[in-house]
Amino acid sequence: MAIKKSKTLFDNSHVALPSVDLYRGDCLAILPGLAGPFDAVVTDPPYSSGGQSKGDRARGTGDKYLNSGATKFPDFLGDTKDQRSYLHWSALWMSLCFERLAEGGLMIVFSDWRQLPVTTDAMQAAGVTWRGIAVWDKTGGARPYKGGFRSQAEYIVWGSKGPLQGERYSPGVFKVNPQAGGKLHQVGKPLPLMEDLVAACGPRILDPFMGSATTGLAAQMQGKHFTGIEASRHYFEVALQRLKKGAGQAAV
Ligand SMILES: C[S@@+](CC[C@H](N)C(=O)[O-])C[C@H]1O[C@@H](n2cnc3c(N)ncnc32)[C@H](O)[C@@H]1O
Repeated sequence: MAIKKSKTLFDNSHVALPSVDLYRGDCLAILPGLAGPFDAVVTDPPYSSGGQSKGDRARGTGDKYLNSGATKFPDFLGDTKDQRSYLHWSALWMSLCFERLAEGGLMIVFSDWRQLPVTTDAMQAAGVTWRGIAVWDKTGGARPYKGGFRSQAEYIVWGSKGPLQGERYSPGVFKVNPQAGGKLHQVGKPLPLMEDLVAACGPRILDPFMGSATTGLAAQMQGKHFTGIEASRHYFEVALQRLKKGAGQAAV
């Protein structure tokens, strides 16, 4: 589908590979042009989480989320909202995704502890039937917290468009080391985790915040169709190269 060119930073370009459609730009601009339907939205949005104040949030994402010396990947975009605007923004993109979900389709959205209440509110505001929270247990590889509790979990908020239609029983806790499967993004999710989540979904997957396309690679490995959107030029290119390589391997 042709997407209107924007005069902004984003070029809204589209690249197609076998069973893959990638768009570079702001998902709020691109989603209205996608027809769908999709069987699942599986996504890991920026959490806009690293800090309590405006100054804290404006820091680079590597500075906010990584231990010093670990900034081997470039910063990513869209991570500076306060909690109220994060709620409104989340409800906006989730509504656009909801419209494009098939009946019974799944919405699966990552969050951390700070944005968890806002994320579940936004999902319900978007019309999704919120059904639960699964847990990504990052195991002993996660950040220790002197005097407190290790930041060992992230959360997987999930729901559906109307009654569930899948047949599969999936676990509610996923124990996966953050580095498993190799990382190509500053806060990329481990491939084995995304494989488990994608396995619970139907054949057409949408990720409006694809980053390095870990979700896309999992979809590709399982013979599913993947549509991904990414605003950052750098990470769009990383995703494209990763999925081109995946498509080459699938063809062999
Ligand atoms: C947390 S990362 C996703 C990482 C991904 N799960 C992976 O494994 O590589 C979120 C991504 O969303 C992108 N992003 C932020 N705002 C966006 C927007 N409005 N539209 C599309 N992409 C956006 C960021 O540049 C970032 O790469």
